[in-house]
Amino acid sequence: MNEKTARIKRLKEEKNAVIMAHYYVADEVQEIADYIGDSYYLSETATKINADTIVLCGVSFMGESAKILNPTKTVLLPDDSADCPMAHMADAERITEVRKQYDDVAVVCYVNSTAELKTLSDVCVTSANALKIVQALPNKNIFFIPDQNLAHYIADKLPEKNFIFNDGYCHVHHNITAAQILEAKKLRPDAEVLVHPECRPEVTTLADYIGSTSGIISYAKSSEASEFIVVTEMGVLYELKKQNPDKKFYTAGNMQVCPNMKKITLDKIIQALETGSPAVSLKEAFMKQALLPMERMLALSK
Ligand code: 13P
Ligand code: SF4
Repeated sequence: MNEKTARIKRLKEEKNAVIMAHYYVADEVQEIADYIGDSYYLSETATKINADTIVLCGVSFMGESAKILNPTKTVLLPDDSADCPMAHMADAERITEVRKQYDDVAVVCYVNSTAELKTLSDVCVTSANALKIVQALPNKNIFFIPDQNLAHYIADKLPEKNFIFNDGYCHVHHNITAAQILEAKKLRPDAEVLVHPECRPEVTTLADYIGSTSGIISYAKSSEASEFIVVTEMGVLYELKKQNPDKKFYTAGNMQVCPNMKKITLDKIIQALETGSPAVSLKEAFMKQALLPMERMLALSK
């Protein structure tokens, strides 16, 4: 164990803290995490944490979600400037407008969104449960915020619903092109293509498997293929390689990096544990309002 890891271990014991991390953070952060997973796993697990402090290694909306789901805990975000641009790509006025236009509309909010957007929504979803949840809703009209690509992926599978699309996107996934996948496929013709649903439809069409980061990891493990082209943020390669030392993983191009996820470092985790800052702080009434769509997500995804 190196010096920084030993220090984090000591601080965790002293502060009664646990470290939760998303698969997109840097390898050395994933290595020291007590809990690691996709956005759904992190939300679900946050409800069950008994420790006094949760250090959330990910972007702001993940820290906010953990706080909303377990409000008596201190939730530390090692770098509070680590923010997901897509989380802001929907607006309150448009939600009001759509609600006026369609009386039975359900506002379905991808968990990659600000706490404010959650307060205006009927139900949250993650990429792991969006299809199941939208399918289970009684509403015909679905306003899906903020991600247009996940919305299109779900809408194609549910022709009985009427989707109203929003124009948000994740720059990491949206920038991946079909040409890059075809080029990677030319170099590795036997590789299976594993795609995150935040990618454009022209990219998901080329996939052998489409799913959340956890979905991609379990698919790769159970697949008989020995080579894979991984079409999501590169951080996921750490867990893929760890679980499958005999399989080969490639990316399509080399730009699949989320700069905000990579802001989380061991030094910042040490500092956050030592100082108790930056901590997520949200108004109580606001948290109660944002909790409703998140609780509905947890109930509907069981
Ligand atoms: P999942 O964690 O649901 O796979 O979503 C990926 C993502 O973009 C998180 O920021
Ligand atoms: Fe946001 Fe995309 Fe980064 Fe996830 S990968 S935090 S959706 S910018």
